[in-house]
Amino acid sequence: MRLFKPALTALSAAILMASTAVMADPITIKFSHVVAENTPKGQMGKKFQELVAERLGDQVAVELYPSSQLYGDDKVLEAMLLGDVQLAAPSLSKFQKYTDQLQVFDLPFLFKDIEAVERFQSSETGQSLLTALEPKGLVGLGYLHNGMKQLSASSPLTVPDDADGKKFRIMTSDVLEAQFDALDAVSLKKPFSEVFILLQTKAIDGQENTYSNIYSQKFFEVQPYITESNHGVLDYMVVSSARFWNGLPEEVRGEVKSALDEAIAYGNELSQAKNLEAKQAIIDSGQSEIITLDDAQRQQWVDAMKPVWGEFADDIGQDIIDAAQDANR
Ligand code: LMR
Repeated sequence: MRLFKPALTALSAAILMASTAVMADPITIKFSHVVAENTPKGQMGKKFQELVAERLGDQVAVELYPSSQLYGDDKVLEAMLLGDVQLAAPSLSKFQKYTDQLQVFDLPFLFKDIEAVERFQSSETGQSLLTALEPKGLVGLGYLHNGMKQLSASSPLTVPDDADGKKFRIMTSDVLEAQFDALDAVSLKKPFSEVFILLQTKAIDGQENTYSNIYSQKFFEVQPYITESNHGVLDYMVVSSARFWNGLPEEVRGEVKSALDEAIAYGNELSQAKNLEAKQAIIDSGQSEIITLDDAQRQQWVDAMKPVWGEFADDIGQDIIDAAQDANR
């Protein structure tokens, strides 16, 4: 037997090497976001995780961190640049630190509905905005819809004067700040995870969000009025760091991207239904009254908020604003 020992040692070394190669740690993609699982973004994440497990199970693992469990949107991009998170989908309102161009999405009453938003995002200009973050080391991988924003408050908001002096939580966007300034209201830039408690304790009077977020975060339980204003859009950009993304082996990157594209398409398809479902659940709860505006009332909101566009045209670029407006046709 002794005669065979060198051969056996070589064989065991080969087996060990082969099994190490097979059992090499998979690449981990941590997807951190702030909303609940039962939302367009939460569902997109789950679909992405499933597709990657099916197609790349032994090479790539997707870990989901919903509900600000890992990072809030104010910190997630910094964490991404440090390599602690590989995928995020912050609202388009939360990129102001990185580029001015995406502020186009915050201009009030720019898009008439989510179909117009979709047309703009798919246009040449919309697609080129996916590269706006590249100088900062971030790669835009696609747009994801949530939907149109509504105003919720502790008292009824029917005309702009009703918002005068009221305090609203906003996302970290100067356009949104200007929008509430135009109403003579006070705005506070606060993380999503703090909104419920701020509303519940009446530290603020209202906020703007989609039905999906108003429902899944239970804002409707502490906001007796929701004005169906559809005054702006809440959509997301799915991003990764250039360092992580470009460092993926080419084949793996291609597979991950196609799983992501499918997951985004799935989330986009769900988004309208999720918002309608959430609106109906809010109505059924009887806890919050939905105020619909007549044409004259709606026009008052448009007249009050729209002048904000002029303040940001130079920063955003008039060509981008024009392209967005074209998408309404
Ligand atoms: C918010 O902060 O209100 C939203 O951006 C949350 C989200 O990701 O939908």
